[in-house]
Amino acid sequence: MTPARRAWSATRARLTTTPITLRLARSDDVPLLEALIPLSARALQAATYSPAQIEGALGTVFAVDRQLIADETYFVAERDSEMVACGGWSRRKTLFGGDRGRSPLGDSLLDPNADAARIRAFFVHPAYARRGIGRLMMSACERAAAGDGFRALELVATLAGEPLYAAFAFQVVERYDVALANGLSLPVVRMAKALAPR
Ligand SMILES: CC(C)(COP(=O)(O)OP(=O)(O)OC[C@H]1O[C@@H](n2cnc3c(N)ncnc32)[C@H](O)[C@@H]1OP(=O)(O)O)[C@@H](O)C(=O)NCCC(=O)NCCS
Repeated sequence: MTPARRAWSATRARLTTTPITLRLARSDDVPLLEALIPLSARALQAATYSPAQIEGALGTVFAVDRQLIADETYFVAERDSEMVACGGWSRRKTLFGGDRGRSPLGDSLLDPNADAARIRAFFVHPAYARRGIGRLMMSACERAAAGDGFRALELVATLAGEPLYAAFAFQVVERYDVALANGLSLPVVRMAKALAPR
């Protein structure tokens, strides 16, 4: 085996065997999250939205929500200490979007006995797409929301996100368009599911 082939074999073995770990996001992750979100959106939404729609949504619809980090309901997925994805859930009313322009009403707390917890802001690094990281984060969110007493989940999905949530048995509630700051609109889908009783 040549040295180059041996080096590639070692790299490939590391790529396939190094585990992905989840941890709660911290406020000092924000700069990395702000880099990861556009990278993910521009690559993984290219089949469902135009570049102008994606750019119009970045910074507002696709953006960091520091409240989730403060609430300790936002996860970061890492491999070898490198951030490869983020996503979380929420016990607050807001359904989507970053810090900018959120209404105080959106910050109000949900009632686990009457309301559905939110699933929020999943973004996977394009190099790690379709390796089960979305699934890993969804399972962690479902467990955490159920542990908080919630009996249902709700979310507003991008068209790129819809297949992941459908795989978790979310049902479509409605399809609608979100108005973007650049005058365009973004088709999204509101989805919901009941959580199995614990
Ligand atoms: C949506 C997203 C988070 C999915 O993450 P992921 O790590 O690639 O998803 P997973 O590998 O865990 O996929 C789990 C299942 O979801 C479904 N799925 C995910 N991506 C899919 C795709 N592009 N096409 C079809 N099905 C898909 C499949 O059922 C998949 O299971 P399988 O691979 O065994 O068939 C990722 O594509 C992403 O970051 N997209 C850009 C940002 C975005 O739009 N986020 C959603 C915000 S609501």
